[in-house]
Amino acid sequence: MAGGIGSRFWPVSTTELPKQFHDMLGTGETLIQKTFNRLSKVIPEENICILTHERYKDLVLEQLPKANPGQLLLEPEMRNTAPCILYASMKIRKENPDAVILVAPSDHWIEQEDIFAGDVKRCFAECAERDILMTLGITPTFPNTGYGYIEYDGESGNNGHDVCKVKKFTEKPDYATAKEFLRQGNYLWNAGIFIWSVKSILKAFEHLQPEMYRLFSKGIPKYNTLAERTFIRKNYGKADNISIDYAILEHSDNIHVLPAGFDWNDLGTWGSLYDKLPKDDCGNAVVNARTLIENSGNNMIRTSGKKLVVIDGLDDYIVIEKKKVLLIYPKQKEQRIKEVLQKVKQKF
Ligand code: GDD
Ligand code: MG
Repeated sequence: MAGGIGSRFWPVSTTELPKQFHDMLGTGETLIQKTFNRLSKVIPEENICILTHERYKDLVLEQLPKANPGQLLLEPEMRNTAPCILYASMKIRKENPDAVILVAPSDHWIEQEDIFAGDVKRCFAECAERDILMTLGITPTFPNTGYGYIEYDGESGNNGHDVCKVKKFTEKPDYATAKEFLRQGNYLWNAGIFIWSVKSILKAFEHLQPEMYRLFSKGIPKYNTLAERTFIRKNYGKADNISIDYAILEHSDNIHVLPAGFDWNDLGTWGSLYDKLPKDDCGNAVVNARTLIENSGNNMIRTSGKKLVVIDGLDDYIVIEKKKVLLIYPKQKEQRIKEVLQKVKQKF
Protein backbone atom coordinates (compact mmCIF):
# COMPACT_ATOMS: atom_id res chain seq x y z
CA MET A 1 0.00 0.00 0.00
CA ALA A 2 1.63 3.16 -1.19
CA GLY A 3 -1.16 5.65 -1.55
CA GLY A 4 -1.06 7.59 1.71
CA ILE A 5 0.26 11.12 1.89
CA GLY A 6 2.16 10.90 5.18
CA SER A 7 0.76 14.20 6.40
CA ARG A 8 2.48 14.01 9.79
CA PHE A 9 5.75 14.35 7.86
CA TRP A 10 4.73 17.69 6.44
CA PRO A 11 6.35 19.84 5.09
CA VAL A 12 8.69 17.21 3.58
CA SER A 13 5.94 14.73 2.72
CA THR A 14 3.33 16.33 0.46
CA THR A 15 0.53 15.18 -1.82
CA GLU A 16 2.87 15.66 -4.79
CA LEU A 17 5.67 13.63 -3.20
CA PRO A 18 4.56 11.59 -0.16
CA LYS A 19 7.04 10.14 2.32
CA GLN A 20 7.17 6.63 0.78
CA PHE A 21 8.93 8.19 -2.23
CA HIS A 22 11.53 9.95 -0.06
CA ASP A 23 14.83 8.67 1.29
CA MET A 24 13.73 9.55 4.81
CA LEU A 25 16.60 7.75 6.55
CA GLY A 26 19.36 9.02 4.32
CA THR A 27 20.36 5.49 3.25
CA GLY A 28 20.22 6.06 -0.49
CA GLU A 29 16.92 4.19 -0.89
CA THR A 30 13.39 5.54 -0.67
CA LEU A 31 10.95 3.86 1.72
CA ILE A 32 9.04 2.17 -1.09
CA GLN A 33 12.29 0.81 -2.54
CA LYS A 34 13.26 -0.55 0.86
CA THR A 35 9.82 -2.14 1.22
CA PHE A 36 9.87 -3.73 -2.25
CA ASN A 37 13.31 -5.23 -1.61
CA ARG A 38 12.27 -6.54 1.81
CA LEU A 39 9.08 -8.11 0.47
CA SER A 40 10.87 -9.69 -2.47
CA LYS A 41 12.68 -11.88 0.06
CA VAL A 42 9.39 -13.62 0.85
CA ILE A 43 7.33 -13.09 -2.29
CA PRO A 44 8.36 -13.45 -5.95
CA GLU A 45 8.86 -9.91 -7.31
CA GLU A 46 6.30 -10.46 -10.04
CA ASN A 47 3.65 -11.25 -7.40
CA ILE A 48 4.03 -7.94 -5.57
CA CYS A 49 1.13 -5.57 -6.29
CA ILE A 50 1.55 -1.89 -5.58
CA LEU A 51 -1.67 -0.17 -4.56
CA THR A 52 -1.54 3.56 -5.04
CA HIS A 53 -3.25 6.63 -6.41
CA GLU A 54 -3.03 7.01 -10.19
CA ARG A 55 -1.08 10.25 -9.81
CA TYR A 56 1.88 8.22 -8.43
CA LYS A 57 2.04 5.73 -11.31
CA ASP A 58 5.12 7.21 -12.98
CA LEU A 59 6.87 7.74 -9.65
CA VAL A 60 6.35 4.08 -8.69
CA LEU A 61 7.59 2.78 -12.04
CA GLU A 62 10.59 5.08 -11.90
CA GLN A 63 11.52 4.07 -8.33
CA LEU A 64 10.76 0.36 -8.82
CA PRO A 65 12.16 -0.48 -12.25
CA LYS A 66 11.63 -4.21 -11.59
CA ALA A 67 7.86 -3.77 -11.35
CA ASN A 68 5.82 -3.74 -14.54
CA PRO A 69 2.70 -1.61 -15.04
CA GLY A 70 0.47 -4.70 -14.62
CA GLN A 71 1.59 -4.93 -10.98
CA LEU A 72 0.10 -1.53 -10.16
CA LEU A 73 -3.46 -1.17 -8.93
CA LEU A 74 -4.35 2.44 -9.46
CA GLU A 75 -6.95 4.30 -7.45
CA PRO A 76 -8.66 7.31 -8.99
CA GLU A 77 -9.48 8.73 -5.54
CA MET A 78 -7.95 8.33 -2.09
CA ARG A 79 -10.33 6.24 0.03
CA ASN A 80 -7.89 4.98 2.68
CA THR A 81 -6.85 1.33 3.03
CA ALA A 82 -10.09 -0.72 3.23
CA PRO A 83 -11.27 -0.13 -0.37
CA CYS A 84 -7.85 -0.74 -1.91
CA ILE A 85 -7.39 -3.98 0.04
CA LEU A 86 -10.86 -5.16 -0.98
CA TYR A 87 -10.30 -4.33 -4.64
CA ALA A 88 -6.88 -5.99 -4.71
CA SER A 89 -8.18 -9.10 -2.93
CA MET A 90 -10.96 -9.53 -5.47
CA LYS A 91 -8.54 -9.16 -8.33
CA ILE A 92 -6.15 -11.70 -6.82
CA ARG A 93 -9.02 -14.14 -6.13
CA LYS A 94 -9.88 -14.08 -9.82
CA GLU A 95 -6.41 -15.39 -10.67
CA ASN A 96 -5.92 -17.65 -7.66
CA PRO A 97 -8.89 -18.36 -5.38
CA ASP A 98 -6.61 -20.08 -2.85
CA ALA A 99 -4.09 -17.27 -2.58
CA VAL A 100 -2.70 -16.28 0.80
CA ILE A 101 -1.58 -12.67 0.77
CA LEU A 102 0.55 -10.28 2.76
CA VAL A 103 -0.74 -6.71 3.03
CA ALA A 104 1.97 -4.26 4.00
CA PRO A 105 2.51 -0.52 4.28
CA SER A 106 5.25 1.03 2.17
CA ASP A 107 6.83 3.18 4.83
CA HIS A 108 8.17 1.10 7.71
CA TRP A 109 11.61 0.60 9.17
CA ILE A 110 12.54 -3.06 9.70
CA GLU A 111 16.20 -3.94 9.91
CA GLN A 112 16.22 -7.65 10.76
CA GLU A 113 14.82 -8.73 7.43
CA ASP A 114 15.52 -12.43 7.92
CA ILE A 115 13.44 -12.50 11.09
CA PHE A 116 10.73 -10.56 9.27
CA ALA A 117 10.77 -13.14 6.46
CA GLY A 118 10.57 -15.99 8.98
CA ASP A 119 7.58 -14.45 10.77
CA VAL A 120 5.75 -13.84 7.50
CA LYS A 121 6.37 -17.42 6.29
CA ARG A 122 5.03 -18.69 9.57
CA CYS A 123 1.82 -16.65 9.12
CA PHE A 124 1.53 -17.81 5.49
CA ALA A 125 1.60 -21.42 6.65
CA GLU A 126 -0.98 -20.69 9.36
CA CYS A 127 -3.37 -18.89 6.99
CA ALA A 128 -3.08 -21.59 4.33
CA GLU A 129 -4.48 -24.04 6.90
CA ARG A 130 -6.89 -21.90 8.90
CA ASP A 131 -9.63 -19.41 8.12
CA ILE A 132 -8.14 -16.59 10.23
CA LEU A 133 -7.05 -12.98 9.77
CA MET A 134 -3.52 -12.39 11.03
CA THR A 135 -1.55 -9.35 12.00
CA LEU A 136 1.95 -8.91 13.35
CA GLY A 137 2.15 -7.44 16.86
CA ILE A 138 4.82 -5.26 18.42
CA THR A 139 5.54 -4.91 22.15
CA PRO A 140 4.44 -1.38 23.02
CA THR A 141 6.94 0.92 24.72
CA PHE A 142 4.87 4.07 25.33
CA PRO A 143 1.21 5.18 24.98
CA ASN A 144 1.41 6.09 21.29
CA THR A 145 -2.02 7.29 20.10
CA GLY A 146 -1.18 6.78 16.43
CA TYR A 147 -1.35 2.97 16.46
CA GLY A 148 -3.90 0.21 16.74
CA TYR A 149 -3.83 -1.75 20.03
CA ILE A 150 -4.34 -5.49 20.20
CA GLU A 151 -5.60 -7.09 23.35
CA TYR A 152 -4.53 -10.70 23.01
CA ASP A 153 -5.50 -13.84 24.77
CA GLY A 154 -2.28 -14.94 26.44
CA GLU A 155 -3.69 -18.41 27.05
CA SER A 156 -3.95 -19.25 23.36
CA GLY A 157 -0.25 -18.74 22.64
CA ASN A 158 2.84 -19.41 24.64
CA ASN A 159 6.17 -17.83 25.51
CA GLY A 160 5.45 -14.58 23.70
CA HIS A 161 6.21 -15.82 20.19
CA ASP A 162 3.24 -17.87 19.20
CA VAL A 163 -0.01 -17.16 17.44
CA CYS A 164 -2.57 -15.70 19.87
CA LYS A 165 -6.25 -15.04 19.44
CA VAL A 166 -7.10 -11.34 19.57
CA LYS A 167 -9.73 -10.44 22.16
CA LYS A 168 -10.22 -6.87 21.07
CA PHE A 169 -8.69 -4.49 18.56
CA THR A 170 -8.77 -0.75 19.26
CA GLU A 171 -7.59 1.62 16.55
CA LYS A 172 -5.86 4.85 17.65
CA PRO A 173 -7.14 5.14 21.24
CA ASP A 174 -6.90 8.42 23.14
CA TYR A 175 -3.92 8.97 25.42
CA ALA A 176 -5.60 7.88 28.68
CA THR A 177 -6.85 4.65 27.10
CA ALA A 178 -3.45 3.89 25.56
CA LYS A 179 -1.83 4.44 28.95
CA GLU A 180 -4.31 2.07 30.58
CA PHE A 181 -3.58 -0.58 27.89
CA LEU A 182 0.12 -0.38 28.68
CA ARG A 183 -0.57 -0.68 32.40
CA GLN A 184 -2.67 -3.81 31.84
CA GLY A 185 0.13 -5.46 29.90
CA ASN A 186 -1.59 -7.95 27.58
CA TYR A 187 -1.54 -5.53 24.65
CA LEU A 188 0.50 -5.27 21.47
CA TRP A 189 0.73 -2.55 18.85
CA ASN A 190 -0.64 -3.43 15.45
CA ALA A 191 2.28 -3.31 13.02
CA GLY A 192 -0.16 -2.78 10.15
CA ILE A 193 1.25 -5.85 8.37
CA PHE A 194 -1.50 -8.37 7.68
CA ILE A 195 -1.57 -11.95 6.41
CA TRP A 196 -4.70 -13.80 5.36
CA SER A 197 -6.17 -15.85 2.55
CA VAL A 198 -8.22 -13.92 0.00
CA LYS A 199 -11.10 -16.20 0.95
CA SER A 200 -10.95 -15.17 4.62
CA ILE A 201 -10.59 -11.43 4.05
CA LEU A 202 -13.31 -11.37 1.41
CA LYS A 203 -15.63 -13.27 3.74
CA ALA A 204 -14.93 -10.65 6.41
CA PHE A 205 -15.68 -7.80 3.99
CA GLU A 206 -18.88 -9.47 2.82
CA HIS A 207 -20.04 -9.76 6.41
CA LEU A 208 -18.74 -6.52 7.94
CA GLN A 209 -18.74 -4.11 4.97
CA PRO A 210 -21.51 -5.51 2.77
CA GLU A 211 -22.07 -2.33 0.77
CA MET A 212 -18.43 -1.94 -0.15
CA TYR A 213 -18.26 -5.65 -0.96
CA ARG A 214 -21.25 -5.38 -3.29
CA LEU A 215 -19.85 -2.29 -5.01
CA PHE A 216 -16.83 -4.22 -6.28
CA SER A 217 -18.12 -7.80 -6.46
CA LYS A 218 -21.17 -7.06 -8.57
CA GLY A 219 -19.74 -4.12 -10.44
CA ILE A 220 -16.43 -5.01 -12.04
CA PRO A 221 -17.37 -6.26 -15.53
CA LYS A 222 -14.26 -8.20 -16.56
CA TYR A 223 -10.87 -8.11 -14.92
CA ASN A 224 -7.77 -6.87 -16.74
CA THR A 225 -9.79 -5.09 -19.39
CA LEU A 226 -10.56 -1.48 -20.21
CA ALA A 227 -14.03 -2.13 -18.79
CA GLU A 228 -12.49 -2.79 -15.36
CA ARG A 229 -10.54 0.48 -15.53
CA THR A 230 -13.62 2.41 -16.61
CA PHE A 231 -15.67 0.89 -13.80
CA ILE A 232 -13.01 1.74 -11.21
CA ARG A 233 -12.64 5.31 -12.50
CA LYS A 234 -16.39 5.79 -12.22
CA ASN A 235 -17.12 3.94 -8.99
CA TYR A 236 -14.07 3.69 -6.74
CA GLY A 237 -14.94 7.01 -5.11
CA LYS A 238 -18.29 5.59 -3.98
CA ALA A 239 -16.56 3.33 -1.47
CA ASP A 240 -16.43 4.56 2.12
CA ASN A 241 -13.28 6.43 3.07
CA ILE A 242 -12.16 4.11 5.84
CA SER A 243 -9.06 2.21 6.93
CA ILE A 244 -8.92 -1.57 7.18
CA ASP A 245 -8.46 -1.16 10.94
CA TYR A 246 -11.78 0.61 11.47
CA ALA A 247 -13.60 -1.32 8.72
CA ILE A 248 -12.60 -4.88 9.60
CA LEU A 249 -10.15 -5.36 12.47
CA GLU A 250 -12.20 -3.54 15.10
CA HIS A 251 -15.28 -5.64 14.29
CA SER A 252 -14.02 -9.11 13.44
CA ASP A 253 -13.83 -11.87 16.04
CA ASN A 254 -11.45 -13.81 13.84
CA ILE A 255 -8.22 -11.83 14.29
CA HIS A 256 -5.05 -13.57 15.43
CA VAL A 257 -1.68 -12.03 16.17
CA LEU A 258 1.87 -13.26 15.92
CA PRO A 259 4.13 -11.19 18.19
CA ALA A 260 6.87 -10.07 15.81
CA GLY A 261 10.43 -11.16 16.45
CA PHE A 262 11.99 -8.14 14.70
CA ASP A 263 12.52 -4.50 15.69
CA TRP A 264 10.01 -2.27 14.00
CA ASN A 265 9.33 1.39 13.56
CA ASP A 266 6.36 2.86 11.77
CA LEU A 267 8.27 5.94 10.56
CA GLY A 268 4.96 7.72 10.82
CA THR A 269 6.09 10.91 12.52
CA TRP A 270 9.17 13.09 12.88
CA GLY A 271 9.63 11.64 16.37
CA SER A 272 9.72 8.06 15.11
CA LEU A 273 12.28 9.03 12.46
CA TYR A 274 14.28 10.86 15.15
CA ASP A 275 14.45 7.58 17.13
CA LYS A 276 16.19 5.86 14.23
CA LEU A 277 18.75 8.57 13.36
CA PRO A 278 22.24 9.07 14.81
CA LYS A 279 22.42 11.93 17.34
CA ASP A 280 25.00 14.34 18.74
CA ASP A 281 26.01 14.25 22.42
CA CYS A 282 22.95 16.28 23.39
CA GLY A 283 20.55 14.03 21.48
CA ASN A 284 20.03 16.30 18.44
CA ALA A 285 19.43 14.47 15.14
CA VAL A 286 20.44 16.52 12.13
CA VAL A 287 19.70 15.67 8.49
CA ASN A 288 20.92 17.72 5.57
CA ALA A 289 21.85 20.83 7.57
CA ARG A 290 24.87 22.66 8.90
CA THR A 291 24.30 23.61 12.50
CA LEU A 292 25.51 25.73 15.37
CA ILE A 293 23.69 24.29 18.35
CA GLU A 294 24.12 25.61 21.89
CA ASN A 295 22.28 24.69 25.11
CA SER A 296 19.78 22.63 23.11
CA GLY A 297 18.92 18.94 23.19
CA ASN A 298 16.77 16.21 21.67
CA ASN A 299 15.77 18.18 18.59
CA MET A 300 15.02 16.80 15.13
CA ILE A 301 16.50 19.15 12.53
CA ARG A 302 16.30 18.83 8.76
CA THR A 303 16.59 21.28 5.90
CA SER A 304 16.16 20.92 2.17
CA GLY A 305 19.50 22.33 1.10
CA LYS A 306 22.14 22.07 3.78
CA LYS A 307 21.00 25.38 5.26
CA LEU A 308 22.79 26.76 8.28
CA VAL A 309 20.66 26.37 11.41
CA VAL A 310 21.61 28.27 14.56
CA ILE A 311 19.74 27.45 17.75
CA ASP A 312 20.16 28.17 21.43
CA GLY A 313 17.97 27.11 24.34
CA LEU A 314 15.67 24.84 22.37
CA ASP A 315 14.74 21.36 23.59
CA ASP A 316 12.54 18.60 22.19
CA TYR A 317 11.53 20.42 19.02
CA ILE A 318 11.10 19.51 15.38
CA VAL A 319 12.76 22.07 13.12
CA ILE A 320 12.10 21.29 9.47
CA GLU A 321 12.68 23.56 6.50
CA LYS A 322 11.39 22.77 3.04
CA LYS A 323 11.27 25.35 0.30
CA LYS A 324 8.77 27.98 1.45
CA VAL A 325 7.86 26.35 4.75
CA LEU A 326 9.65 26.38 8.09
CA LEU A 327 8.08 24.18 10.75
CA ILE A 328 9.12 24.65 14.38
CA TYR A 329 6.94 22.39 16.46
CA PRO A 330 7.12 20.63 19.85
CA LYS A 331 7.94 16.94 19.45
CA GLN A 332 5.38 16.06 22.08
CA LYS A 333 2.55 17.41 19.92
CA GLU A 334 3.68 15.81 16.66
CA GLN A 335 0.47 13.82 16.14
CA ARG A 336 -1.24 17.21 15.65
CA ILE A 337 0.79 18.11 12.56
CA LYS A 338 -1.89 16.42 10.44
CA GLU A 339 -4.54 18.84 11.76
CA VAL A 340 -2.21 21.81 11.53
CA LEU A 341 -1.67 21.00 7.86
CA GLN A 342 -5.43 21.16 7.29
CA LYS A 343 -5.53 24.60 8.91
CA VAL A 344 -2.59 25.73 6.80
CA LYS A 345 -4.35 24.54 3.65
CA GLN A 346 -7.49 26.49 4.58
CA LYS A 347 -5.60 29.64 5.33
CA PHE A 348 -2.92 29.80 2.63
N1 GDD B 1 -3.16 2.53 -1.81
C1 GDD B 1 -3.42 3.28 -0.78
N2 GDD B 1 -4.53 4.05 -0.80
N3 GDD B 1 -2.60 3.23 0.28
C2 GDD B 1 -2.90 4.01 1.33
C3 GDD B 1 -4.05 4.83 1.39
C4 GDD B 1 -4.91 4.87 0.24
O1 GDD B 1 -5.92 5.57 0.17
N4 GDD B 1 -4.06 5.46 2.59
C5 GDD B 1 -2.96 5.02 3.25
N5 GDD B 1 -2.26 4.16 2.49
C6 GDD B 1 -1.01 3.45 2.81
C7 GDD B 1 0.05 4.36 3.41
O2 GDD B 1 0.88 4.87 2.39
C8 GDD B 1 0.78 3.41 4.34
O3 GDD B 1 1.78 2.70 3.64
C9 GDD B 1 -0.30 2.39 4.75
O4 GDD B 1 -1.33 2.49 3.78
C10 GDD B 1 -0.88 2.63 6.15
O5 GDD B 1 -1.50 3.89 6.19
P1 GDD B 1 -1.18 4.96 7.32
O6 GDD B 1 -1.98 6.18 7.03
O7 GDD B 1 0.30 5.11 7.47
O8 GDD B 1 -1.79 4.24 8.60
P2 GDD B 1 -1.43 4.57 10.09
O9 GDD B 1 0.04 4.50 10.33
O10 GDD B 1 -2.14 5.82 10.50
O11 GDD B 1 -2.12 3.35 10.88
C11 GDD B 1 -1.94 1.99 10.47
O12 GDD B 1 -0.60 1.55 10.71
C12 GDD B 1 -0.19 1.51 12.11
C13 GDD B 1 1.22 1.00 12.20
O13 GDD B 1 2.04 1.72 11.37
C14 GDD B 1 -2.93 1.13 11.26
O14 GDD B 1 -2.94 -0.17 10.71
C15 GDD B 1 -2.57 1.08 12.77
O15 GDD B 1 -3.42 0.17 13.43
C16 GDD B 1 -1.13 0.59 12.91
O16 GDD B 1 -0.77 0.58 14.30
MG1 MG C 1 1.66 4.66 9.03
